[in-house]
Amino acid sequence: MNQLSKANPIGIFDSGIGGLTVVKKIDSFLPNEYFVYFGDTARVPYGSKSNSTVIEYSIQNTKFLLKKNVKMVVVACNTASSVAIRKLEDTFNLPIIGMIEPGSRMAVEETKNGRIGVIGTYATINNKAYYSELKRLDKKLEIFEKPCPLFVPLAEEGLLEHKATYLIAEDYLKSLRELKIDTLILGCTHYPLLSKVIQEVIGNEVKLIDSGIAASILVEKYLRELDLYNNTELRSANEFYVSDVPNKFKEVAELFLGKPVNNLKKIDLEELTG
Ligand code: DGL
Repeated sequence: MNQLSKANPIGIFDSGIGGLTVVKKIDSFLPNEYFVYFGDTARVPYGSKSNSTVIEYSIQNTKFLLKKNVKMVVVACNTASSVAIRKLEDTFNLPIIGMIEPGSRMAVEETKNGRIGVIGTYATINNKAYYSELKRLDKKLEIFEKPCPLFVPLAEEGLLEHKATYLIAEDYLKSLRELKIDTLILGCTHYPLLSKVIQEVIGNEVKLIDSGIAASILVEKYLRELDLYNNTELRSANEFYVSDVPNKFKEVAELFLGKPVNNLKKIDLEELTG
């Protein structure tokens, strides 16, 4: 294991900027910690790519974060968590936290009728990552899954309460509503941004599970258990790296994070692949 120290940052990566919704949770839960964020904006989306490509990218992203001396890696992308988490755990000798296990645990704690819905990208749903984890936790659960690919571009465009978002949400979610689920996992980093629309369409009686919140609780637990929790209040500034700077990046990133994004650097893809 590389030299892990309490003062080192937490590494967080996502396929793009959606993982900033997870950063926001970690930032508010763990105010003493600082983080290095990598968003693979040049190669987003991961949700429609093959497993082997997502695994390769996830390994490269983790190697990049290790060069920044991170003490833990949070895979703030449900697609990468679904596809690559085992490979990352086998390859790297440091704590790695994905979205699937914490999100599933929270859903199992919340459900009363044992009927859980899961929404995510095609890759997350097709790989049955949440399904398998939920069944492992309780095999009596009834699980209903639905890919909702258009939610990602709607969030990226900032159409958080637009009528188009309501129409698409109605189309995606009506089958889950009819199936009488009482808990719905938002199995994609972007979906918490659309939670107002999703809640209205699915109904107030359905509890929404934000895997980012669940993962933040787990990050704190692991840091304390591993004696890596930073209690010194001496934290450096957060750093943001991206593989491309798309149009409106800063604007959308600040919308996701709810505060200014400074310390932003673009890296060359060769830095990842070389
Ligand atoms: N970050 C991805 C996820 O949570 C959504 C965007 C993508 O497809 O890469 O699944």
